[in-house]
Amino acid sequence: MNMSPKSLTAFAALVLSATGVSAQRAEDVGAASAPIAAANNASPIFGVTIPPGYRQWELVAVSYETAFDEFRGILGNPLALKAYGEATLPFPDGTILAKLAWKRVPSSEFNGAFVPGATTTVQFMVKDAKKYASTGGWGFGRFIDGKPVDEAQHKTCFACHLANVKAHDLVFTRFAH
Ligand code: HEC
Repeated sequence: MNMSPKSLTAFAALVLSATGVSAQRAEDVGAASAPIAAANNASPIFGVTIPPGYRQWELVAVSYETAFDEFRGILGNPLALKAYGEATLPFPDGTILAKLAWKRVPSSEFNGAFVPGATTTVQFMVKDAKKYASTGGWGFGRFIDGKPVDEAQHKTCFACHLANVKAHDLVFTRFAH
């Protein structure tokens, strides 16, 4: 094939999207993100996709939400962990925080113990100061069964984080030692 650099890039992005490589990677090779992101189940407004391998990231902290009766585990990619370790604020570009959520259920094996039940949502915050300048540098994504939730829900993320944790770069979670 005789391809210009531009069409080569588009071709590479197509191959990446066909093989399930994230939109982030497609952007790395210089492709337009919107069509690729849509093909990869990206969140509305922000185009955030589920980062590959996030379940292997390190634990930052846990939390418990009474309104939903859910346990949460907050994980961070290596950049996030480095920033927490060095108390770097704002978090640098490339930081990704993941919040996993499970229903709280009684253990069937030990009275008084509670364990994670069904997984409910997984949420991400991706730092890119330029790309997400209008939302404090963070892109948001909330997924159920691997699919992003609707635009209306994604309109709520920034407002709540801004209202409560503006002084901590919009991040609630502190590192649990
Ligand atoms: C009404 C307030 C509120 C809204 C709306 C909200 N969050 Fe949060 N978020 C929280 C709170 C409180 C925490 C920390 C406690 C916890 O873990 O549940 C949190 C934590 C997080 C974290 C872990 C990093 C951190 O800041 O601690 C991520 C990732 C996250 N939210 C993503 C989202 C996404 C994506 C949306 C929109 C779809 C969203 N949030 C909407 C209140 C909110």
